[in-house]
Amino acid sequence: MTEAVSRYLLGDSPAEVRHLVEQAQVYAPEAEELLDRIDLAAAASVIDVGCGVLGILHLLADRVGPAGHVVRLDREPRMVETARQLARQQNLSVELIEADATATGLTDDSFDLVHARTLLLNVVNPEEILTELLRIAKPGGVIAIQEPDANAWGCDPPHPAFDILRAEILSAYRRTGKDFSIGRRIARMLRDAGPEDLQVRATAKVTAPGDYYQTFLLTLATLVRTVILDAGRVTADEFDSYTETLRDHLEDRRTRTCQPLMWKAWGRKPTSARL
Ligand SMILES: C[S@@+](CC[C@H](N)C(=O)[O-])C[C@H]1O[C@@H](n2cnc3c(N)ncnc32)[C@H](O)[C@@H]1O
Repeated sequence: MTEAVSRYLLGDSPAEVRHLVEQAQVYAPEAEELLDRIDLAAAASVIDVGCGVLGILHLLADRVGPAGHVVRLDREPRMVETARQLARQQNLSVELIEADATATGLTDDSFDLVHARTLLLNVVNPEEILTELLRIAKPGGVIAIQEPDANAWGCDPPHPAFDILRAEILSAYRRTGKDFSIGRRIARMLRDAGPEDLQVRATAKVTAPGDYYQTFLLTLATLVRTVILDAGRVTADEFDSYTETLRDHLEDRRTRTCQPLMWKAWGRKPTSARL
């Protein structure tokens, strides 16, 4: 796999780090609801893979308590330091690992819960990663995945700049071998990888002006601006004009957005030797 293709599309800029901190807060209630359904025991051993700077670490630490073991794994070196600072600020006892999710270096059968959120849409080899996540889960342990699906993503009243930028973002993912809408496939992918007792849910947020995610499309378009311009369908001037007019539209008090669906699928690693 070439570095250009395997590279994380959103980079590790201060803007992306800021976005990941917001994502951790905004999506915390949904993650809590998922953890309620998984029924995690105190003192459990858990890992958040492709965790970015915070992911759901704070929620996991709360659930497993001081006797539990919480691990954060991510490949981007510059995010590790922010993750360390956030863990310190929030008084979280977390083990930080810098590694690729395809080859974590962790021992087999280590975790009661292996969780990943918005990791698989950013990789070209999601099946390989699922195999690794399954390997490090304990037999009977849970693998839980949360990934988006762009289908629901829109705004009302509609705006042409929203549709153009949305199409360009999805194309930027596709052209680098990634699938922004991988969420709709994750239950099937998990089933093929081996977990049993599979459960699936999908939810979407509706936002209004003032909500952080109201301008999510603009945040994402700006992070992948170079990849969009490289495709040659939109000039730099057009890009700037679209983002400017769309910002005004999204700030209008009547405008609502529906964010991408977030699919959640989870299942247990079989206890038999079938794997
Ligand atoms: C969109 S962020 C999600 C962060 C976090 N899970 C959350 O929900 O807030 C995706 C993260 O996956 C990481 N990542 C991408 N490819 C990876 C890989 N092959 N191995 C490990 N981490 C990876 C990126 O560095 C980034 O931090």
